Amino acid sequence: MTTITEASLASQTTTETLVDELLNRFARLTETGHGPGVTRLAYTRLEREAHEVFTEFMTDLGLTVWTDQAGNTIAELAGRRPGPAIGTGSHLDSVPNAGAYDGIAGVIAAMVAAWQLAEQETFDHPLRFVAFAAEEGARFGQACTGSRLAAGLTESADLDHLHDAAGTSMADAFREVGLDPEAADEARWSADDWAGFVELHIEQGSVLTDTNTQIGVVDTISGSTRLHVEFRGRASHTGGTPMHLRADALAAAAELITAGETLATDPRHRGTRITVGTIEVEPGSMTTIPGLCRLDVDIRDTDDRRQRETALELIGRAERLAAERGVDSDVQVVADASPAILPLSIQRQLTSAAHEVGCSYRVMPSGASHDTQMISHVCPVGMLFVPSQNHGISHAPEELTHTTDIVRGIDVLIAGLRRLDSA
Ligand code: GLV
Ligand code: MN
Ligand code: MN
Ligand code: MN
Repeated sequence: MTTITEASLASQTTTETLVDELLNRFARLTETGHGPGVTRLAYTRLEREAHEVFTEFMTDLGLTVWTDQAGNTIAELAGRRPGPAIGTGSHLDSVPNAGAYDGIAGVIAAMVAAWQLAEQETFDHPLRFVAFAAEEGARFGQACTGSRLAAGLTESADLDHLHDAAGTSMADAFREVGLDPEAADEARWSADDWAGFVELHIEQGSVLTDTNTQIGVVDTISGSTRLHVEFRGRASHTGGTPMHLRADALAAAAELITAGETLATDPRHRGTRITVGTIEVEPGSMTTIPGLCRLDVDIRDTDDRRQRETALELIGRAERLAAERGVDSDVQVVADASPAILPLSIQRQLTSAAHEVGCSYRVMPSGASHDTQMISHVCPVGMLFVPSQNHGISHAPEELTHTTDIVRGIDVLIAGLRRLDSA
């Protein structure tokens, strides 16, 4: 069978066709029987298959490719001089029932950039094209595990303490896909090896389309604090138990959900986003008062202090309302990543690159988390957004970015990488 690279080298493939071919190739790697959209969770066989597609493509282009012990795959194109590399890339995993662009757009941008640059031109710096593993926190609560291991923010010993909903530890998930969790610290990047890193990503919001802007240059990436909350009340008969004698765990959870919404819309917390995206009720019977309720809370903010203050306020609220309702509460902080302010020097190179390519741009914050946030602990970083259609819907099958917008983003990315190379 011809590989995508062979086909694209043999024919007069345009960037547009290559982007579409790659989008289709990755979109086919999805769990079957899991409803609409793409489901390719962190540290699963399907995520590894996506990394194999990336490896094969880059190997065919003649790049040196390796996968580290965090599951990140890196392809290197030698530079004119040895020395620190300039990197670009994103992630290949998805949330359940995702769209086909989150993460993928940035990996495809890296693949197309490698395809355009491998033959044509040499940079002074080596170029490294990166497909990160496990960016999504959907499976284990913690986001950006591949890039966190690269940045030394997560260590091998932590992998035993993160679990998915089925109780599988991240360490066991590593073993199931042939990675050695004990060796995960070997994935750590040294600051000496990296001159800079730029990620292209879909916006996952509607600012660019609402303002008819072609490119976003990110100045701040939101942080995220994630809580796992458990309310333990008393399961009992829904008919036999009078209202004043209940300890309803789900009613406590309902109060916490609306308290989060109120807190996030309070003017003191403006800019904070609080979401409860999962809830589990036991015993889960129409005729039994809920005795146990578990929920996950995601608190996002571009302001470090406000993020933690809001989290503490919500934890306090959970404890108080539990006491008032006579239920027990237990709150665990499962993840706590700070926002990142991206260096002005790279923002300027990216705005200049957008100007050079002739597109409209705006400097804007990212509401979502990204691998670049973690890599900011290793070297200077920047991010480019391309427009999301359908009102910016993301983490859902309706996610859509036009191929022409990805292609324009790739042009800006390459211009930006060139500017970093000569800086
Ligand atoms: C990851 O994509 C996140 O921002 O939730
Ligand atoms: Mn993403
Ligand atoms: Mn995502
Ligand atoms: Mn993200």
